[in-house]
Amino acid sequence: MPYACENIIENKVIEINDLSVSINGMSVLDNINLTVFDRDFLGIIGPNGGGKTTLLRTMLGLINPDHGTVLIMGKPLRQSRHLISYVPQYATFDRTFPISVWEVVLMGRLGQKIGRSYSKEDHYIALEALERVEMEKLKNRQIGQLSGGERQRVLVARAIAAKPKILLLDEPTASVDSRFEAGFYDIMQDLNKEITIILVSHDISAVSAYVKTIACLNQQLFYQHAKELTEEMIEHAYHCPVHLIAHGIPHRVLAPHDGVVG
Ligand SMILES: Nc1ncnc2c1ncn2[C@@H]1O[C@H](COP(=O)(O)OP(=O)(O)O)[C@@H](O)[C@H]1O
Ligand SMILES: [Mg+2]
Repeated sequence: MPYACENIIENKVIEINDLSVSINGMSVLDNINLTVFDRDFLGIIGPNGGGKTTLLRTMLGLINPDHGTVLIMGKPLRQSRHLISYVPQYATFDRTFPISVWEVVLMGRLGQKIGRSYSKEDHYIALEALERVEMEKLKNRQIGQLSGGERQRVLVARAIAAKPKILLLDEPTASVDSRFEAGFYDIMQDLNKEITIILVSHDISAVSAYVKTIACLNQQLFYQHAKELTEEMIEHAYHCPVHLIAHGIPHRVLAPHDGVVG
């Protein structure tokens, strides 16, 4: 039935095939294959230097692969880049630069607007984005006067103001006080009702309780479209026996195995 077939194709929001990337002649990503479906919430974990940021930047078209393809909603990046928003790992803001929360979030509309100035609709969407991250009260605050957690929320608001279908987050809670972390993930789960989310982190315990599925990346990607990690996935990605890193991992994330995290 052609109709059913079309639905299946539409459901795939990201398709990465045989993707290899090298930087300065060094292989960073090796033959990555990944399919992400609509409304997935995928956590990608892996050690520092494992290629997580490189993978996200390649999905944004900021890095040209040596080999392979990235399709977003079935289309190459030059036609589909506007469907993805990104919250970078290191947000570089000059703390003394006089720009308000409101102006930062409005910047999220820059890629979408046709005219030179922001329209009424741009203002409406920016305010809605601020409300989604519960930051509307700090609208007029200078960006340099926010805590790490507040700044992170504003960056999420800027990203969703672009009305993306897919949101990529690079180590979003690395500089966030753990007290704020739970609230941050509640916001992500709310957004995930409408937006597909990929979140990368070197910290398994920071992502595992919230995501729907989890993958391991260390040059190669290990993914079974499941919430559970197997010993093999972790050992391949971290190149060390699972018991060295299993301590502190919520049990339900790790597939059953012989008495390591009992
Ligand atoms: N601009 C760059 N110049 C040189 N090497 C880089 C650059 N970006 C990334 N790399 C290298 O690529 C590898 C993967 O880096 P990265 O994608 O940042 O990993 P992760 O985000 O998992 O920590 C590392 O060995 C890193 O040193
Ligand atoms: Mg990184």
